Amino acid sequence: MSDRARFEALDATDPFAALRDAFALPPGVRYFDGNSLGPQPKAARAAVLRVLEQGWGEALIRGWNDEGWFELPDRTAEALAPLLGAAPSSVAVADSTSLNIFKLLAAALAARPGRTKIFALRDTFPTDLYMAEGLVHWLGEARAELCTFPCLDALRDALDGTVAVVLLSHVDFRTGERLALPQITAAVHDHGALVLWDLAHSAGAMPLALETWGVDFAVGCGYKFLNGGPGAPAFAYVAPALQATLSQPLAGWFGHARPFAFEPAYDPAAGVDRLKCGTPPILSLAALAGALKLFDGVSLAALREKSLALTTALMDEVAARPALKAFQCLTPRDAERRGSQVAFAHPEAYALIQALQDDGVIGDFRAPNILRFGVSPAVLRFVDVFDAVECLEATVRSGRHRAARYQTTKEVT
Ligand SMILES: Cc1ncc(COP(=O)(O)O)c(C=O)c1O
Repeated sequence: MSDRARFEALDATDPFAALRDAFALPPGVRYFDGNSLGPQPKAARAAVLRVLEQGWGEALIRGWNDEGWFELPDRTAEALAPLLGAAPSSVAVADSTSLNIFKLLAAALAARPGRTKIFALRDTFPTDLYMAEGLVHWLGEARAELCTFPCLDALRDALDGTVAVVLLSHVDFRTGERLALPQITAAVHDHGALVLWDLAHSAGAMPLALETWGVDFAVGCGYKFLNGGPGAPAFAYVAPALQATLSQPLAGWFGHARPFAFEPAYDPAAGVDRLKCGTPPILSLAALAGALKLFDGVSLAALREKSLALTTALMDEVAARPALKAFQCLTPRDAERRGSQVAFAHPEAYALIQALQDDGVIGDFRAPNILRFGVSPAVLRFVDVFDAVECLEATVRSGRHRAARYQTTKEVT
């Protein structure tokens, strides 16, 4: 059997092979960036077209009632909740991950009066730190303090009764390392602190059981493995026990108990509904709601199994080629500790990613020297992995990535 045929054989027994047809992918593209922007589900496109045509085009303002726009955030949360292992009443779909971090960090500080510290890892996705810093700045150092740590062991060792909340990413955006979420949550709780998990790189790619694991708060993006489209709304999760007293500073009218009573004073809506702020972006929400239909009847455990098989195949195929020995794999070999991406360090990472993209192999670059290959198990085939590694080897051998056009860094990498 030829090398490629081995990968084709794996595709022939893939239980998700048919799901690929639910996406509109350009021909010839091998898409390894679903961890940054998920590919377009045909159902998302149809849902957006409906809003444009029957909704905005014909129903106009009546769409809020007649097209169900007012309930759309709640219906989207309902579709998302099972992917998080949460009750629909514990999930809000609103705003961006950054904004939801701000709201929930503030809520965590309010829920732990007398405690001021926010703990985080220094290498976490920067917006998480920026939002924490911004909140600390506004509250003042007597009420809040951000403490960052170089590694998880150092963070754990420093936990004590002054910590209000620990903010962590489940899967590291650079290396793809997955943290032991249930165990870490329990360790944080042992010190009476709360935990806020950023699930941007895990929601939609693996089973999650937030309620069973006792997670306090979580956030995540709608545009990555949930395939909701560029700038799709994000989600926020709040544990049932914290909902009644949930207090957050961005009191917008959509989070009011009676937005259309137009009362002068703010009266927060019940539970997670008070996390909503302004008018929801209906076009984007419609895309996300359409995209979530793809998960109907899909086993996340089986999806995770395919994701691990794909990431293992990618790591093995690169490791097996002597021409690629300069690519240092940053992603853990241990499946338990791996998310749904593979990252390699290489001094020419940026130029290589640009050259691969021109050949239809789409991954991305993260400064200073990382090639990231996201694995969307619903859409990627095993032959895509083989073809991508072939393309990488051919690029390295030919040196075509050294062309001048691949040396200037674009604004978005
Ligand atoms: C781990 C993580 N958190 C947060 C964000 C940013 O989310 P948003 O742009 O919705 O604020 C990203 C974006 O890529 C991310 O990877």
